[in-house]
Amino acid sequence: MRGLFRELSYILGMSLKQIIAPSVLNANFLELGKGLNAIENGGAGLVHLDIMDGHFVPNISFGPGISACIGKGTKLPLDCHLMIENPEKYVGEFAKAGASIISVHAETTNHLDRLLHQIKELGVKPAVAINPATPLESIKWVLDIVDMVLIMSVNPGFGGQSLIPYCLDKIRELRQLKPELDIQIDGGVKLDNILACKEAGANVFVVGSAIFGTADPEATCREFVKKVGG
Ligand code: DX5
Ligand code: ZN
Repeated sequence: MRGLFRELSYILGMSLKQIIAPSVLNANFLELGKGLNAIENGGAGLVHLDIMDGHFVPNISFGPGISACIGKGTKLPLDCHLMIENPEKYVGEFAKAGASIISVHAETTNHLDRLLHQIKELGVKPAVAINPATPLESIKWVLDIVDMVLIMSVNPGFGGQSLIPYCLDKIRELRQLKPELDIQIDGGVKLDNILACKEAGANVFVVGSAIFGTADPEATCREFVKKVGG
């Protein structure tokens, strides 16, 4: 009976920690320290770093150096989302920069199993990310290796886009498969759709422009945390 309740509570996302992970991609980099304090005081559980190389995605953001500076400026664990080609070459750099989690895209490597073990051996939590059109089927054999799955709910490269609704169906399917797994939704998450994201089964919520695009990121972050019962 207990097992059934536990299973049910996981499926309903009741037992998993609900985490807000603000993305600094659209933060004011001239006052990044202030922005980091704001999300820390606002109850964020992670800081999401969107690493972009201009090849896998049509934008360039920042690398291990800036990531290390950000790590020195916050107590929050670094959640590094690598939207880059040849991630094998850089995971060591991000581990050195202080990453707690490294998400790699299944679409960027021929050897996903090996890459996830490489991240694990660096003492960093491995996570796998997939783009909106990429099926869950492509990651089903690594679900027991990862600590988290990142489901992109926008086409990667930019903040401020609208959430793609069918991605919630993908999250629903994944939650059914893995009641106890951390499932991160990334892209287009707002105050008016985050409960639908939670209901679908996500429990880690990347929020970029909807926090850093507001006049008071601390208060807005606190609103998101309260909304999901984090
Ligand atoms: C897009 C990034 C997302 C994005 C989120 O490629 O992976 O993390 O910055 O920003 P919003 O919340 O504005 O969609
Ligand atoms: Zn991201």
